[in-house]
Amino acid sequence: EKQFLIAPSILSADFARLGDDVQKVLDAGADVVHFDVMDNHYVPNLTFGAMVCKALKDYGISAPIDVHLMVSPVDGMIEEFLKAGADIITFHPEASQHIDRSLQMIKDGGAKCGLVFNPATPLHYLDHTIDKLDQILLMSVNPGFGGQKFIPSTLQKARMVRERINASGRDIRLEIDGGVNPSNIREIAEAGVDMFVAGSAIFGKADYRAVIDEMRQELSL
Ligand code: DX5
Ligand code: ZN
Repeated sequence: EKQFLIAPSILSADFARLGDDVQKVLDAGADVVHFDVMDNHYVPNLTFGAMVCKALKDYGISAPIDVHLMVSPVDGMIEEFLKAGADIITFHPEASQHIDRSLQMIKDGGAKCGLVFNPATPLHYLDHTIDKLDQILLMSVNPGFGGQKFIPSTLQKARMVRERINASGRDIRLEIDGGVNPSNIREIAEAGVDMFVAGSAIFGKADYRAVIDEMRQELSL
C-alpha cells in the first residue's frame, strides 16, 4: 500500500460526464474515489445514492470507491452500497443507532469500515470501536458542502487520533476531508494524516495531473 493516498471527492466533479471525469482524475494519478453521500436529513444537502456507485463500477472504474455516508439512518445505505461494490464505507457515529452492528455489517459485506468525526465530535467513539476500524475520517469542515475553508483545530485532533492509532497497533488509515489543498496538505500529513480527500482543489482545476503532482510534491518533502 502507498504511504499517502489522494482521494478526490466526486462532489465537485462534472456530473454531466461523471464516468469520464472520474477516469480522467484517476489517469491524473489519484488513488481512490471519494463518494460524498448526502441525504438532506443528516446534512443539509442531497447528492447521490448507490446507483451512482454501481454505474461507475459498470463503467469500468477499477480504483477503490471510498463511500462517506452523511446519512441517517445508516444501515440501509450500508446494504445498498455493499451491493453496489463499495470498497470502503465510513459513517458518522451520531447517525447510527447501533455503531458496532453497523461496523460489523460493513465488515461482513467484505468492505473496509470506518467512523467519521465532525469537527466537534469527541473521540470517545473510538474507545470501544478502534479494534474494528480500517479507517478513521476526520472532517476538517462541517459536512454538507464542498469549497469550504479548512478548520485549523483539526490538526491537533489529527495528532491525537494518530497517537491512538499507533497505540492500537492496527494498520488504520487516517483520512481528512474538507478544505484540503496543496498549500496545507504537508502540515496535515505532518499531523499524522495519510489519506487526503479533496474536491474543489482538484475537480475545480483545469489540469488534474498538475494539482495532484503538486500535492505529491508537498507530501514528499
Ligand atoms: C463535506 C464534503 C466535502 C468534500 C470535499 O461534506 O465531504 O468536504 O468532500 O470538499 P472540498 O475539498 O471542496 O472542501
Ligand atoms: Zn467526504
